[in-house]
Amino acid sequence: NAQDTRALVESRLAVIPDFPEPGVLFRDLTPVFADGEAFHALAGALTAPFAGRFDVLAGVEARGFLLAAAASVAAGVGVLPIRKAGKLPRAVLTEAYALEYGTAALEVHEGELPPGTRVLVVDDVLATGGTVGAAARLVERAGWKVAGVSVAIELDGLGGRAALPDTFETYSLLQY
Ligand code: PRP
Repeated sequence: NAQDTRALVESRLAVIPDFPEPGVLFRDLTPVFADGEAFHALAGALTAPFAGRFDVLAGVEARGFLLAAAASVAAGVGVLPIRKAGKLPRAVLTEAYALEYGTAALEVHEGELPPGTRVLVVDDVLATGGTVGAAARLVERAGWKVAGVSVAIELDGLGGRAALPDTFETYSLLQY
């Protein structure tokens, strides 16, 4: 169940002080990815709240790819890679989003999925919400439906949840 998964994932998380800069406490999921039991449980936990309500998972480059790919295989659905700008070879839609310093952009192939496809957006961390917000706008602009947003870790206090439209159901396994 979710409580067991929460405890298992949390027991594997690495917590690093002062990374990437002084004063920041960085929660690193790589030991969770490296542990088969924890990774499998985490992948399942991300889709469980949305069971029967999505057709495909979208993963955001780069760490979101790992979770979306694992969860999509477990759920028996496809995966839609939402990539950093300049990587996709065919016609794309582009959405810019704010970084701490400057902006970045995400892209998706237009027409990759049939109109109306229900897309669950998956990422590792929800911080300011800029990344998953841009991913969700791409899904909508492409003519698909946002089935929800699901992340492993939500950093409270950075306003990510509030920055997303409240029509999006947003799930996080762990909150800090
Ligand atoms: C990190 C993280 C999320 C995003 C969360 O990605 O993997 O995608 O930041 O922050 P936000 O809610 O403030 O947008 P990063 O841009 O570092 O890319 P990476 O996964 O390629 O390392």
